Amino acid sequence: MFRKFATVFAACILGGFISSASGQTSETAGKSQAASQDLVPGTGAKVSYAADIRPLFRAKDIASMKKNGHFDLSLYSDVAAKAIDILGQLEKGGMPCDGAWPQSDVDKFKQWIKDGKQP
Ligand code: HEM
Repeated sequence: MFRKFATVFAACILGGFISSASGQTSETAGKSQAASQDLVPGTGAKVSYAADIRPLFRAKDIASMKKNGHFDLSLYSDVAAKAIDILGQLEKGGMPCDGAWPQSDVDKFKQWIKDGKQP
């Protein structure tokens, strides 16, 4: 019993030593990931609806979704309210119905949500 405990304890100490020696503590790993997601790397710029998301919707997308009585993709408030559902459609390639977005645009939309849906 004690042997088992001692082995687990030693493994934890060793694991902690290795991760701190490589400089990749969970804190530093998180920071470098956040930095690489900046719109302009290193600036901390966030994805915004007006500058980055609104231009991704074509006139056809806006008209079709309005016509179908769903929501208005040209309105920040509608897109923000439906963001998770919209992301679901974009990720599975269900919408727009005439061709899926490139992965880079889907990632941008996802980042917009992560950034707190900036207007
Ligand atoms: C929650 C998200 C969404 C839902 C539930 C949804 C649902 C629908 C539905 C039910 C239709 C009617 C389909 C038909 O009449 O056959 C439609 C049409 C359409 N949607 Fe969406 N949609 C979503 C998001 C989007 C987004 C984000 C875009 C564009 C980026 C988009 C672009 C279109 C287009 C272009 C059409 C017309 C398709 C056609 O008539 O050929 N939709 N959508």
